[in-house]
Amino acid sequence: MKALIAVLPGDGIGPEVTIEAVACLKAIATRFGHDFTFEEAPVGAVAIETLGDPLPAATLALARRAHAVLFGAIGSPRYADPTLKVRPEQAILGLRRELDLYANLRPVTCFDAVIDASPLKPELLKGVDIMVVRELTGGIYFGEKTRTETRATDLCVYTVTEVERIARLGGKLAQSRGNKLTSVDKANVLETSRLWRSVVTRIMQTEFPSVALDHMYIDAASMHLLRRPADFDVVITENMFGDILTDEASMLPGSLGLCPSASLGAGTSGIYEPIHGSAPDIAGQGIANPYATILSAALLLRYSLGLETEAKTLEAAVVSALTAGVRTADLKPRGPAATTQHAGRAVIERL
Ligand code: IPM
Ligand code: MG
Repeated sequence: MKALIAVLPGDGIGPEVTIEAVACLKAIATRFGHDFTFEEAPVGAVAIETLGDPLPAATLALARRAHAVLFGAIGSPRYADPTLKVRPEQAILGLRRELDLYANLRPVTCFDAVIDASPLKPELLKGVDIMVVRELTGGIYFGEKTRTETRATDLCVYTVTEVERIARLGGKLAQSRGNKLTSVDKANVLETSRLWRSVVTRIMQTEFPSVALDHMYIDAASMHLLRRPADFDVVITENMFGDILTDEASMLPGSLGLCPSASLGAGTSGIYEPIHGSAPDIAGQGIANPYATILSAALLLRYSLGLETEAKTLEAAVVSALTAGVRTADLKPRGPAATTQHAGRAVIERL
């Protein structure tokens, strides 16, 4: 198959991990006889500094034209000043909104080979395989914002349509997995959550009656995720809760460096990115974990290109590298660790 893949490496460790994921996609193309073209464009702090815009028009145009977008990370301590009007994060938020990628799939899988990397007890982690669906283009992230000298507001808005499409996706995913859906909200306090809960209940009762539905408050969900993670299957939640809950969930596999994501909309295009950030503290040292980005590339093969066998092959190669003990420093606090490049090569050797 022929496909154009937009590569937006971004800031910090973004470029280092993206290079490895692109190399893996090239190896997949060779092995399975595909014709992938890669086109790179600046985004984030690097784009502000070279072109004055975190999301330059040419970058957005490339993202629209491509079959899928492979994204590294954005963010820089140079933009920590809270009074700044132009910030790197505007790029990823703008891309999600412009491409209408309203659903963010964040699989959280515990790999047996690195179970010791988690701060949690191994007996809690056996068989943990959660699919979090985070709503991505609504809620407090995108509502009206105001700020004066003495007061600031962020409006949280959800419409029935926005909740319905997440509920349907959650229902479909649950049917293809363990038939269990947990919807996370804060319906005891927030009006948007009460709307969320009633819409999810209606959609599940009418369209997915065989899926077991459970509602949980975000505070309780944060606790149960650590206390009994194996009980979760598919989780749906609003934008900000999903952002926070998935960083917490990354401690189940043991590192943000093992957590990929896919941002999807109504069509087949999507943005594929690790859930970790730009990690400026370790950028440029060649020690970042590339597995989350490589696993995101596998999701790209699966969801945007419909290449399930290729996706599974890439995922299996990552598991095999982990099993062979190829661990970057985040997975190996003591002793010599694999470099970013070493980990990427280990995956390619196994393809
Ligand atoms: C994420 C990130 C982003 C978000 C930031 C960089 C805007 O934390 O993808 O989880 O909050 O969505
Ligand atoms: Mg986040």
